[in-house]
Amino acid sequence: MSVELGEQILVYLDKVSEVDTLKLSHILSEDHQKIVGAVKSLQALGDVIGVEQQTNKSWELSSEGKFISESGSHEALIFNAIPQEGISQAELMKSVPNSKVGFSKAMSKGWISLDKCSGKVFKKVETITDEVKDHLNLIQNGQYDKVADNFKLDYKKRKLLQETITKTFLLKKGINFCTSVSKPETDLTPEMIATGSWKNKTFKPYNFDALGVFPASGHLHPLLKVRTEFRQIFLEMGFSEMPTNNFIESSFWNFDALFQPQQHPARDAHDTFFISDPSLTDSSKFPPDYLEKVKKVHSKGGYRSQGYQYEWSVKEAQKNLLRTHTTAVSARMLYKLAHEKQFKPTKYFSIDRVFRNETLDATHLAEFHQIEGVVADYDLTLGDLIGILYEFFKKLGVTQLKFKPAYNPYTEPSMEIFCYHNGLKKWIEVGNSGVFRPEMLLPMGLPEKVNVIAWGLSLERPTMIKYGLNNIRELVGPKVNLQMVHENGICRLEK
Ligand code: PHE
Repeated sequence: MSVELGEQILVYLDKVSEVDTLKLSHILSEDHQKIVGAVKSLQALGDVIGVEQQTNKSWELSSEGKFISESGSHEALIFNAIPQEGISQAELMKSVPNSKVGFSKAMSKGWISLDKCSGKVFKKVETITDEVKDHLNLIQNGQYDKVADNFKLDYKKRKLLQETITKTFLLKKGINFCTSVSKPETDLTPEMIATGSWKNKTFKPYNFDALGVFPASGHLHPLLKVRTEFRQIFLEMGFSEMPTNNFIESSFWNFDALFQPQQHPARDAHDTFFISDPSLTDSSKFPPDYLEKVKKVHSKGGYRSQGYQYEWSVKEAQKNLLRTHTTAVSARMLYKLAHEKQFKPTKYFSIDRVFRNETLDATHLAEFHQIEGVVADYDLTLGDLIGILYEFFKKLGVTQLKFKPAYNPYTEPSMEIFCYHNGLKKWIEVGNSGVFRPEMLLPMGLPEKVNVIAWGLSLERPTMIKYGLNNIRELVGPKVNLQMVHENGICRLEK
């Protein structure tokens, strides 16, 4: 605030009981907005002044009105331009601006007369009072009340002035009124405390209505928000989370444990990123008994299966790779479960990153997130799988599902999952599922009667649908607009 202007206002207010800011702006010849600014600062000092908002009608001269207030009305100019001996109408009309209006007004006021024969105009009266000019001058000075309303309306019609509505403030003395103010302190500094000078200072009170500065903080990426929702669903359904903190996996757990033959095309370097250094996992890291059983089930069969009948190579199983699915984690966890003292029905889930050497396009990247659910219990059937999928998707707000037979080396039967998306009005493929094969589970040592059902989805797909993105590059990678991460909404699934 300019302390000066604030003090000028206080000094004026000291002499009167109340004053309006618009009036003050005339008295102090200061812009009204500046007066209002100074008043707001005075208000912040606490009860020095009382402030009451008012709506005021005021009048403002148009440029034509301003011309009249300075030079006289058009009719007065006409009158003054007429010499004692009269003047020809044509000449008179050329001598002053706005002569047409001026002439007819002067005629109707009876100030002048026109001699039709000679075409000359004469003054009809000695003197005139230029009421219009006087009125406009009063208005110019803010003395609106001194001009009767009918005149103001007439001048408004003549476009000499316009009405404006201004918000002003009526000022009165407050309880702590005084005429001098010092600029209040906004901060308490260490120096003030050290010297004790704070005792004699006034401090600006907090303005709790002020908009705060948006705190600089982290923002969750949409993938993390949707991930949280899925996690919540699994937790509500009694699933516990598997540790997925190993992007690098051996072929053994990623493929062999899952009864995926070593010649399977998905193991090809076109689909899998193999690690070059270290390229192999030490075979002693694989449980030796289990390794033998996996080798046997692949090469010779067992558990009423004839296996694949090929030469299984431990070298192939040792190859390191970036895991191609989180089912590798599920395999490790099921092996662990099989080695618990006593089998306990179990529900596991995971949501984490997997890697595939895919051709990149608008919906595919070489890495994405998988959401995986696994249930191990006695005598589970395909019906249980279908039932739990309905339950799971219902929590996402999806009630219509369709299943299509599919093939996975590790599940039989296997089903692709389709859901009807109400927003998109179509069936979309959302995941893959199945009942894990005995050739996978029995070598691990799980009891014969235990079945394991499982399903997997991508996290990116529902996120893109939820956030209306149609290119995955808007979601992941160097082209992501950080503002999008800043501004995207919270994730609410239509439960
Ligand atoms: N691992 C499968 C995939 O990558 C998903 C899946 C998980 C399928 C569990 C069946 C059972 O697509």
